[in-house]
Amino acid sequence: MWFYASGHGIMLVMIKSLFIANWKMHKTNPATTQFVRALKQIFLPADQVVVICPPYTALPIMQQELTGSTIVYGAQNMHWANEGAYTGEISPEMLQALGCSYVIIGHSERRRDYNETDETVQRKVAAALHHGLVPIVCVGESLDERNHDETMAVIQRQVSIACHGLLPTDVARLVFAYEPIWAIGSGQAATPEYAATVHTLIRQLTRPEVTIIYGGSVNADNIGQFMQQPSIQGALIGGASVEVESFQQLLAGSTINRI
Ligand code: PGA
Repeated sequence: MWFYASGHGIMLVMIKSLFIANWKMHKTNPATTQFVRALKQIFLPADQVVVICPPYTALPIMQQELTGSTIVYGAQNMHWANEGAYTGEISPEMLQALGCSYVIIGHSERRRDYNETDETVQRKVAAALHHGLVPIVCVGESLDERNHDETMAVIQRQVSIACHGLLPTDVARLVFAYEPIWAIGSGQAATPEYAATVHTLIRQLTRPEVTIIYGGSVNADNIGQFMQQPSIQGALIGGASVEVESFQQLLAGSTINRI
Protein backbone atom coordinates (compact mmCIF):
# COMPACT_ATOMS: atom_id res chain seq x y z
CA MET A 1 0.00 0.00 0.00
CA TRP A 2 1.33 3.46 -0.93
CA PHE A 3 0.28 6.82 0.34
CA TYR A 4 1.35 10.41 -0.10
CA ALA A 5 2.63 12.28 2.91
CA SER A 6 3.05 16.01 2.68
CA GLY A 7 5.51 17.89 4.82
CA HIS A 8 8.30 19.65 3.00
CA GLY A 9 6.77 18.75 -0.32
CA ILE A 10 5.14 15.53 -1.47
CA MET A 11 6.60 12.19 -0.58
CA LEU A 12 5.60 8.63 -1.48
CA VAL A 13 5.70 6.35 1.57
CA MET A 14 5.35 2.59 1.48
CA ILE A 15 3.17 1.19 4.27
CA LYS A 16 4.07 -2.41 4.98
CA SER A 17 1.49 -5.00 5.93
CA LEU A 18 2.34 -7.62 8.51
CA PHE A 19 1.39 -11.29 8.14
CA ILE A 20 2.24 -13.48 11.11
CA ALA A 21 1.99 -17.27 10.95
CA ASN A 22 1.17 -18.77 14.34
CA TRP A 23 1.82 -22.47 13.89
CA LYS A 24 0.82 -23.28 17.48
CA MET A 25 1.86 -26.89 18.28
CA HIS A 26 2.35 -28.06 14.71
CA LYS A 27 5.30 -29.36 12.67
CA THR A 28 8.36 -31.44 13.37
CA ASN A 29 11.72 -30.08 12.27
CA PRO A 30 11.81 -31.95 8.92
CA ALA A 31 8.33 -30.59 8.13
CA THR A 32 9.51 -27.10 9.12
CA THR A 33 12.48 -27.30 6.75
CA GLN A 34 10.22 -28.36 3.92
CA PHE A 35 7.79 -25.48 4.54
CA VAL A 36 10.46 -22.82 4.81
CA ARG A 37 12.31 -23.96 1.70
CA ALA A 38 9.06 -23.87 -0.27
CA LEU A 39 8.14 -20.42 1.11
CA LYS A 40 11.54 -19.03 0.12
CA GLN A 41 10.73 -19.87 -3.52
CA ILE A 42 7.62 -17.70 -3.46
CA PHE A 43 7.74 -14.08 -4.56
CA LEU A 44 6.78 -11.84 -1.68
CA PRO A 45 5.98 -8.20 -2.51
CA ALA A 46 8.21 -5.62 -0.82
CA ASP A 47 5.25 -4.19 1.09
CA GLN A 48 4.56 -7.49 2.89
CA VAL A 49 6.41 -8.45 6.06
CA VAL A 50 6.06 -12.19 6.69
CA VAL A 51 6.82 -13.56 10.16
CA ILE A 52 6.81 -17.27 11.00
CA CYS A 53 6.23 -18.25 14.64
CA PRO A 54 6.92 -21.99 14.89
CA PRO A 55 7.28 -24.09 18.04
CA TYR A 56 10.50 -23.34 19.97
CA THR A 57 12.07 -26.58 18.72
CA ALA A 58 12.01 -25.27 15.14
CA LEU A 59 13.69 -21.93 15.84
CA PRO A 60 17.23 -23.20 15.03
CA ILE A 61 15.88 -24.32 11.63
CA MET A 62 14.50 -20.83 11.09
CA GLN A 63 17.88 -19.34 11.93
CA GLN A 64 19.64 -21.70 9.56
CA GLU A 65 17.19 -21.32 6.66
CA LEU A 66 16.13 -17.67 6.95
CA THR A 67 19.32 -15.80 7.81
CA GLY A 68 19.71 -13.26 4.99
CA SER A 69 16.12 -13.76 3.84
CA THR A 70 13.39 -11.09 3.97
CA ILE A 71 11.19 -13.59 5.84
CA VAL A 72 11.58 -13.16 9.58
CA TYR A 73 10.57 -15.29 12.54
CA GLY A 74 9.66 -15.27 16.17
CA ALA A 75 8.34 -17.27 19.09
CA GLN A 76 4.81 -17.96 20.35
CA ASN A 77 5.55 -17.09 23.98
CA MET A 78 8.41 -16.47 26.43
CA HIS A 79 9.11 -15.91 30.12
CA TRP A 80 10.00 -12.41 31.31
CA ALA A 81 13.13 -13.47 33.23
CA ASN A 82 16.56 -13.85 31.64
CA GLU A 83 17.23 -17.15 33.36
CA GLY A 84 16.33 -19.03 36.52
CA ALA A 85 14.44 -21.92 38.05
CA TYR A 86 11.48 -21.88 35.65
CA THR A 87 11.13 -25.45 34.43
CA GLY A 88 9.85 -25.65 30.87
CA GLU A 89 10.20 -21.95 30.11
CA ILE A 90 12.18 -20.00 27.50
CA SER A 91 13.82 -16.62 28.11
CA PRO A 92 13.95 -13.50 25.93
CA GLU A 93 17.73 -13.83 25.84
CA MET A 94 17.43 -17.34 24.37
CA LEU A 95 15.07 -16.09 21.66
CA GLN A 96 17.36 -13.21 20.88
CA ALA A 97 20.31 -15.60 20.55
CA LEU A 98 18.30 -17.63 18.03
CA GLY A 99 17.77 -14.56 15.85
CA CYS A 100 14.10 -14.01 16.63
CA SER A 101 12.67 -10.59 15.78
CA TYR A 102 9.15 -11.01 17.18
CA VAL A 103 7.37 -12.77 20.04
CA ILE A 104 3.65 -13.39 20.48
CA ILE A 105 2.54 -12.35 23.97
CA GLY A 106 -0.73 -13.18 25.71
CA HIS A 107 -2.39 -15.29 23.04
CA SER A 108 -5.88 -16.19 24.29
CA GLU A 109 -4.92 -19.88 24.39
CA ARG A 110 -2.12 -18.98 26.82
CA ARG A 111 -4.46 -16.79 28.85
CA ARG A 112 -7.12 -19.53 28.95
CA ASP A 113 -5.01 -22.69 29.36
CA TYR A 114 -1.86 -21.47 31.15
CA ASN A 115 -3.23 -18.82 33.48
CA GLU A 116 -1.63 -15.84 31.75
CA THR A 117 -3.02 -12.60 33.09
CA ASP A 118 -2.90 -8.97 32.01
CA GLU A 119 -0.10 -8.54 34.56
CA THR A 120 2.09 -11.38 33.20
CA VAL A 121 1.47 -9.99 29.71
CA GLN A 122 2.71 -6.60 30.90
CA ARG A 123 5.92 -8.11 32.35
CA LYS A 124 6.58 -10.06 29.16
CA VAL A 125 5.98 -7.04 26.93
CA ALA A 126 8.52 -4.98 28.90
CA ALA A 127 11.07 -7.84 28.85
CA ALA A 128 10.66 -8.40 25.11
CA LEU A 129 11.21 -4.73 24.31
CA HIS A 130 14.24 -4.68 26.61
CA HIS A 131 15.76 -7.49 24.52
CA GLY A 132 14.98 -5.92 21.17
CA LEU A 133 12.11 -8.29 20.37
CA VAL A 134 8.91 -6.84 18.94
CA PRO A 135 5.98 -8.00 21.10
CA ILE A 136 2.83 -9.04 19.25
CA VAL A 137 0.34 -8.36 22.01
CA CYS A 138 -2.87 -10.37 21.64
CA VAL A 139 -6.09 -8.87 22.92
CA GLY A 140 -9.70 -9.86 22.42
CA GLU A 141 -13.03 -10.53 24.05
CA SER A 142 -14.83 -13.83 24.69
CA LEU A 143 -18.24 -14.63 23.20
CA ASP A 144 -19.84 -14.00 26.55
CA GLU A 145 -18.15 -10.61 26.85
CA ARG A 146 -19.24 -9.70 23.34
CA ASN A 147 -22.82 -10.73 24.08
CA HIS A 148 -22.78 -8.51 27.17
CA ASP A 149 -21.47 -5.53 25.17
CA GLU A 150 -18.19 -5.60 27.06
CA THR A 151 -15.85 -5.73 24.07
CA MET A 152 -14.60 -2.16 24.32
CA ALA A 153 -14.12 -2.36 28.11
CA VAL A 154 -12.13 -5.62 27.80
CA ILE A 155 -9.91 -4.22 25.05
CA GLN A 156 -9.35 -1.03 27.00
CA ARG A 157 -8.27 -3.00 30.09
CA GLN A 158 -6.00 -5.41 28.21
CA VAL A 159 -4.31 -2.68 26.15
CA SER A 160 -3.85 -0.27 29.06
CA ILE A 161 -2.25 -2.88 31.31
CA ALA A 162 0.00 -4.18 28.50
CA CYS A 163 1.34 -0.64 28.00
CA HIS A 164 1.59 0.23 31.68
CA GLY A 165 4.97 1.71 32.59
CA LEU A 166 6.24 1.91 29.00
CA LEU A 167 7.68 5.05 27.46
CA PRO A 168 5.65 6.42 24.52
CA THR A 169 8.59 5.52 22.26
CA ASP A 170 8.30 1.89 23.42
CA VAL A 171 4.54 1.81 22.91
CA ALA A 172 5.16 3.00 19.35
CA ARG A 173 7.13 -0.20 18.66
CA LEU A 174 4.33 -2.58 19.66
CA VAL A 175 2.20 -4.74 17.43
CA PHE A 176 -1.34 -5.42 18.67
CA ALA A 177 -3.25 -8.40 17.35
CA TYR A 178 -6.96 -8.00 17.86
CA GLU A 179 -8.22 -11.56 18.13
CA PRO A 180 -11.82 -12.02 19.28
CA ILE A 181 -11.69 -15.35 21.09
CA TRP A 182 -14.92 -16.56 19.46
CA ALA A 183 -13.34 -16.13 16.03
CA ILE A 184 -10.20 -18.19 16.69
CA GLY A 185 -10.27 -21.57 14.99
CA SER A 186 -14.06 -21.35 14.68
CA GLY A 187 -14.34 -20.59 10.98
CA GLN A 188 -16.41 -17.57 12.01
CA ALA A 189 -14.27 -14.48 11.48
CA ALA A 190 -15.33 -11.07 12.75
CA THR A 191 -16.65 -8.76 10.06
CA PRO A 192 -13.97 -6.35 8.78
CA GLU A 193 -16.14 -3.43 9.96
CA TYR A 194 -16.41 -4.85 13.50
CA ALA A 195 -12.65 -5.46 13.66
CA ALA A 196 -11.97 -1.96 12.30
CA THR A 197 -13.97 -0.40 15.14
CA VAL A 198 -11.85 -2.20 17.72
CA HIS A 199 -8.64 -1.30 15.84
CA THR A 200 -9.62 2.36 16.00
CA LEU A 201 -10.06 2.09 19.76
CA ILE A 202 -6.63 0.42 20.17
CA ARG A 203 -5.02 3.24 18.20
CA GLN A 204 -6.77 5.86 20.32
CA LEU A 205 -5.49 4.11 23.47
CA THR A 206 -1.90 3.86 22.24
CA ARG A 207 0.11 5.76 19.61
CA PRO A 208 -0.32 6.59 15.94
CA GLU A 209 2.76 4.46 15.12
CA VAL A 210 1.57 1.11 16.54
CA THR A 211 0.83 -1.69 14.11
CA ILE A 212 -2.59 -3.29 14.55
CA ILE A 213 -3.47 -6.58 12.89
CA TYR A 214 -6.52 -8.83 13.00
CA GLY A 215 -6.62 -12.55 13.87
CA GLY A 216 -9.34 -15.19 13.99
CA SER A 217 -10.31 -17.49 11.09
CA VAL A 218 -8.43 -15.44 8.49
CA ASN A 219 -8.07 -17.27 5.18
CA ALA A 220 -7.41 -16.69 1.49
CA ASP A 221 -11.08 -15.92 0.86
CA ASN A 222 -11.60 -13.23 3.50
CA ILE A 223 -8.17 -11.57 3.83
CA GLY A 224 -8.82 -9.17 0.92
CA GLN A 225 -11.85 -7.74 2.72
CA PHE A 226 -9.92 -7.22 5.94
CA MET A 227 -7.09 -5.49 4.10
CA GLN A 228 -9.56 -3.05 2.52
CA GLN A 229 -10.02 -1.49 5.95
CA PRO A 230 -7.35 1.22 6.37
CA SER A 231 -7.13 0.49 10.12
CA ILE A 232 -6.24 -3.19 9.56
CA GLN A 233 -2.53 -3.50 8.85
CA GLY A 234 -2.19 -7.25 8.52
CA ALA A 235 -3.19 -10.54 10.11
CA LEU A 236 -2.24 -13.15 12.69
CA ILE A 237 -2.98 -16.46 11.05
CA GLY A 238 -3.35 -19.86 12.71
CA GLY A 239 -4.91 -22.69 10.72
CA ALA A 240 -4.34 -21.17 7.27
CA SER A 241 -0.61 -20.70 7.93
CA VAL A 242 0.33 -24.30 8.62
CA GLU A 243 0.41 -25.52 5.02
CA VAL A 244 2.53 -23.57 2.58
CA GLU A 245 -0.15 -23.68 -0.15
CA SER A 246 -2.90 -22.12 1.99
CA PHE A 247 -0.47 -19.57 3.40
CA GLN A 248 0.72 -18.61 -0.08
CA GLN A 249 -2.88 -18.23 -1.27
CA LEU A 250 -3.64 -16.03 1.71
CA LEU A 251 -0.62 -13.79 1.05
CA ALA A 252 -1.64 -13.50 -2.61
CA GLY A 253 -5.26 -12.78 -1.61
CA SER A 254 -4.18 -9.99 0.73
CA THR A 255 -3.25 -7.71 -2.14
CA ILE A 256 -6.60 -8.09 -3.94
CA ASN A 257 -8.77 -4.99 -3.66
CA ARG A 258 -5.96 -3.03 -2.00
CA ILE A 259 -5.44 0.60 -2.96
P1 PGA B 1 -6.96 -19.21 13.41
O1 PGA B 1 -6.03 -18.85 14.66
O2 PGA B 1 -6.45 -18.43 12.23
O3 PGA B 1 -6.81 -20.69 13.24
O4 PGA B 1 -8.36 -18.81 13.77
C1 PGA B 1 -5.60 -17.54 14.90
C2 PGA B 1 -4.78 -17.48 16.15
O5 PGA B 1 -5.05 -18.25 17.09
O6 PGA B 1 -3.85 -16.67 16.24
